[in-house]
Amino acid sequence: MTAPDLPLSAAAHPLGAEAIRLQLRTWPEIEAYLQRCKGVIVPLGSTEQHGPTGAIGTDALTAEAVALEVGRRTGVLVTPTQAFGMAEHHLGFAGTMSLQPTTLLAVLHDLVLSLARHGFERIFVINGHGGNIATARAAFAQAQGSAASRGLAVAPRLRCQLANWFTASTVMQEARRLYGGREGHHATPSEIALTLHLEPSLQAHQRPLPEAAPAGPIHGPEDFRQRHPDGRMGSDPFLAQADHGATFLELAATALAKDLRTFLAEPSGTLP
Ligand code: NI
Repeated sequence: MTAPDLPLSAAAHPLGAEAIRLQLRTWPEIEAYLQRCKGVIVPLGSTEQHGPTGAIGTDALTAEAVALEVGRRTGVLVTPTQAFGMAEHHLGFAGTMSLQPTTLLAVLHDLVLSLARHGFERIFVINGHGGNIATARAAFAQAQGSAASRGLAVAPRLRCQLANWFTASTVMQEARRLYGGREGHHATPSEIALTLHLEPSLQAHQRPLPEAAPAGPIHGPEDFRQRHPDGRMGSDPFLAQADHGATFLELAATALAKDLRTFLAEPSGTLP
C-alpha cells in the first residue's frame, strides 16, 4: 500500500490543499478515497496549562498543524483533532481540561473502531502531548482485539501507529541547538515557538520568567503544582520565536511524512 498521489486534493479538487480535511469531505468522497488509500491521520492533543505565558491549547494546536502539513504533503486524509488528552497532573491549574486514562482509552478505541469499520487499515496518530503516549498505546491494543472479536473485515490488516512530533530526532536536535538545557520538559520553547508561528497574537503573552523548577516525578495535580508552581518543568519559553516555530513545523512534517509513507507501505503480513 502506498500513499495516494494527492488523489483528492491539490488542483483536482475545488477545496485545493484543504481537501485532505475529513471534515470538509462527503461520504461518497471518502468511499472513493478508500478505493485508493486505506490510511488516515488522527491529530491528538491536550488542553492543559503551559506555564504562565503559554497557550492552554498548545498541544492540540501543534499536533493539528503538523498533521495538516503531513496530510498536504502526502495526500492522506486528516480527521478532526482530538483536542482533549490525559492531563490529570495539570488539573491544579485553571483552564486545564483532562480525560482520565480510561476515558481517553475508550475515546481512541472507539475512533479507531469507527475508522476500521469503513475499511481504514492504517491509523496514524500524530500526538502533541507526552502524557497521552501510554494510554494511546493501550487503546491501540484494545482496538486491535475488539476489531478481531467483532469480526471486522480489516481486523487482520489493522495497524495503528503513534507519531509524537516533538520526539522526531531532527526536532529534538534543533531544540537542543537553539535552547540547550533550557528546552526543559513542559511548556518547552520548541512547542511554544510553534504556537507563535501558528497564532502570532500569542506573542503578546511572551515575557521573561524566573528559572523554572527542574523536571521531577509526577504524583498528581497538587504535588505537581507544589513542585512546579508556575506550571513549567525546567523550560524557558521566553526563548521561543515564531521563526523557530516555522522551522520546527518543517522538520516535524518532513520526518513524519516519511514515517507515514513507510507505515503505509508496510505489508500487513496476512495471506491474500
Ligand atoms: Ni505541551
